[in-house]
Amino acid sequence: MPTTDHALNIEIDRREASPIYLQICERFKAAIAAGHLKPGDRVPALRALATQLNTARGTVEMAYNVLVDEGYLQMRGAAGTFVSTSLPGAVTPARTSRERADAPRAKRTQADTDIGNDAKPLRPGLPALDAFPRKVWSRLVAYRARGGDPATLSYPDPSGYRPLRERIATYLGLSRGVECVPEQVFVTNGYRATLELILRGFAKPGDRAWFEEPGYLLARNFLVDAGMRLVPVPVDHEGLDVDTARALHDDARFAFVTPSHQSPLGVTLSLARRMKLLDWASRAGSWIVEDDYDSEFRYVGRPLPALKSLDRDDRVIYCGTFSKVLFPGLRLSYVVAPERAVARFGQITKSMNAGSPYLYQAAVADFIAQGHFARHLKRMRALYAERRMLLMNAILKAFGDRVSIELPTGGMHLVAIFHAGRDGPIDDMAMAARAREAGLAVLALSAWYLNARAKHALRGIVVGFANVADAAEAARLAGMLRRAYDG
Ligand SMILES: Cc1ncc(COP(=O)(O)O)c(C=O)c1O
Repeated sequence: MPTTDHALNIEIDRREASPIYLQICERFKAAIAAGHLKPGDRVPALRALATQLNTARGTVEMAYNVLVDEGYLQMRGAAGTFVSTSLPGAVTPARTSRERADAPRAKRTQADTDIGNDAKPLRPGLPALDAFPRKVWSRLVAYRARGGDPATLSYPDPSGYRPLRERIATYLGLSRGVECVPEQVFVTNGYRATLELILRGFAKPGDRAWFEEPGYLLARNFLVDAGMRLVPVPVDHEGLDVDTARALHDDARFAFVTPSHQSPLGVTLSLARRMKLLDWASRAGSWIVEDDYDSEFRYVGRPLPALKSLDRDDRVIYCGTFSKVLFPGLRLSYVVAPERAVARFGQITKSMNAGSPYLYQAAVADFIAQGHFARHLKRMRALYAERRMLLMNAILKAFGDRVSIELPTGGMHLVAIFHAGRDGPIDDMAMAARAREAGLAVLALSAWYLNARAKHALRGIVVGFANVADAAEAARLAGMLRRAYDG
């Protein structure tokens, strides 16, 4: 393990709005993420770095304290300060395949955010598989397969099957207040494929992006791997804190947000924050990526219109998916391109992929056209409203005052927050790992933070309630969670 002093080539910019100590933190995180600083490297002494940057020793000290607090650096007394040997998962620099094979840490980091692909109990984000209208669906697929339409056997249009794009545009206008034409709708193979299209369309190397803290971990990992410099922005009861984001990096090129139902905390972005966010994007010429993944499921009042519905300057890129409203194995999602980028998106889809299977796109278009979609959504809203209560009550009963849960007003998961124990905060990563060993698909809440070890990171678990069939099953699963908690 390298322990030599690491010569760091970092610069600070006094014109930036962000304070110097935060800039130093940013530069260190970027150097660690890029692999220029490796676990175990000794970082410059306070005085040396202060001289190099022509700043006060106290400023560097403040930055180092934050980095230690967040788990990036470790102070080892007289030996100096070192890059932590157990970095927060998302910033671990890319390793060679050989290093990956040798490194036990790589596996552990993977386990922190990876719940596999199967339908184990409590999996967040998995819709009720027992309630999907399989008969109707098989009939529609079989009809299309038998129909002999050569289009279903030929190469699909990489932008999407035209009738499905039309259905989506109509649905978004009626249900989400999103005014768009079918040409703006691009069908993709899941949210990460959508992100890839967006990055190819708009991102430049070194771009910064605001990202909710905590936020959707699969998107976060994708963006970090794609080289995006993520700026974690705290989320409170009104959603993403736009003022803090602006103070941190007003010049970010993107803001990735889940306004309807924040992932994972479940709050809704307030109207005041929506207006601030739109105002920022218009003035900065930046892009807001609205991930509207599960807004259809709302149990209190009507679903709120999308942020895109307020977008006067065409700065919002709206993203939706069929993973929650139908099923994720379908791998069908979509993005509404800004008007000015329709031609560009069309070009990119041609070079990027070969499109999604026509057969399934056609079956989904029929499913919507024949009214099954609206009926299914209505039934699922009622079912999920019941199932969320079953699971919430069972967890509260099993855990007593060890947890608090806010009744989710929408979505398909709930967040149980652990109260600190006598010995301090509960290790939710270890608890979730034990629960996974016992066969449950749960994730630690702290895994959703870019800085999982930060003091402000809430500890808890994120669990899906959509597949909890009845009270007995809810009690059984809550009992398993409690045993994992007790260790
Ligand atoms: C926050 C969030 N965004 C988007 C998605 C949709 O992802 P995909 O379309 O790839 O299934 C999910 C699914 O779990 C999600 O939780």
